Amino acid sequence: PARTLALTPPMGFNDWNSFGCDVSEELIKQTADYFVSSGMRDAGYRYVNIDDCWMARHRDADGRLTPDPDKFPSGIAGTADYVHSHGLKLGLYEDAGTRTCAGYPGSLGHEQLDAQTFAAWGVDYLKYDNCNNAGHKTPAQYIERYTTMADALAATGRPIVYSICEWGVHEPWTWAGNIGHLWRTTHDIKDIWSSLKSIIRRNAALSSHAGPGAWNDPDMLEIGNGGMTDAEYRTQFSLWAEMAAPLLVGTDLRRASPSTMTIYLNQDVIDVDQDPLGKQGRLVSTDHDRLVFAKPLSNGDVAVALFNGSDTTATISTSAAQAGLGAARNGYLLRDLWSRATILTTGDITATVAPHATVMYRISSTRFGT
Ligand code: DGJ
Repeated sequence: PARTLALTPPMGFNDWNSFGCDVSEELIKQTADYFVSSGMRDAGYRYVNIDDCWMARHRDADGRLTPDPDKFPSGIAGTADYVHSHGLKLGLYEDAGTRTCAGYPGSLGHEQLDAQTFAAWGVDYLKYDNCNNAGHKTPAQYIERYTTMADALAATGRPIVYSICEWGVHEPWTWAGNIGHLWRTTHDIKDIWSSLKSIIRRNAALSSHAGPGAWNDPDMLEIGNGGMTDAEYRTQFSLWAEMAAPLLVGTDLRRASPSTMTIYLNQDVIDVDQDPLGKQGRLVSTDHDRLVFAKPLSNGDVAVALFNGSDTTATISTSAAQAGLGAARNGYLLRDLWSRATILTTGDITATVAPHATVMYRISSTRFGT
């Protein structure tokens, strides 16, 4: 794909986690309004994405996809115009099989026409799912299906971020980076701790495959949906940023609490995610469920995340050298990106971390003194 798109991980919203099939033009427009009024657009959130169930049950007489007229009275084009007029971008969902997961018409065999339709409507982002794939299950077959849509999108001339949602397929990170801008690395996330924890473990091992325009996608954010604690939600936000993952809000923003918004709007953490160097934080150490990550940043700083996946409070430690920082005669400055405290250290990086919590430091070599 064009390596001019998604040079940093996509940020935005997707309705699936909190609404399932209950998507509508009203929801998308109100979310766009809220992106502007809440400061989310200014914080970097850009894509307002529609997931499954936006379509009518059948293609029209010309074989074109049509939106459900009750859910989208202005169509996708009218909804896209509204989103664009707010300085935002519109994402849409389709499927690389005969039907979407929820049973709406899929794109298999219609890729050119559907890509042209999306481009004509003003779609800026396509999430392309893997249900009902007609038994095309060998690596060559799914690579071919995903490539056919990539080529069809490219042929439209419109810049469209291509999100490969090939769940159920082995090791997409070995091929998807040549085809799309991000690829799912796990099963669907759920709003429970065991789901979050298992996704973290899997995605953490894949850092070498990510880079500008090609990201591991450990699925969407659950922050604010009520099934986890705020500490667990801060862990999701911290580690998604540390792992240079897409930051796609998965909650009903119109009802989000102040504590939820404090998480989504933590600019220091967002800046780690969006750092232009585009490195996914690598695992520095694993001690059972206690993981240390280090992410090099473009200005020479390193973002270190100390994640306590265990059920008891733990002291988690690493060192500046292990985190990849060079020698610094006057030590290092640690800035805690949640408490905002700053700590001066000669090289030890350590924190007492509550169960399921993450301490995240941005670390720089001190520049004062001689
Ligand atoms: C499976 C995907 O993994 C989900 O994110 C969502 O898009 C659903 N399909 C929609 O049917």
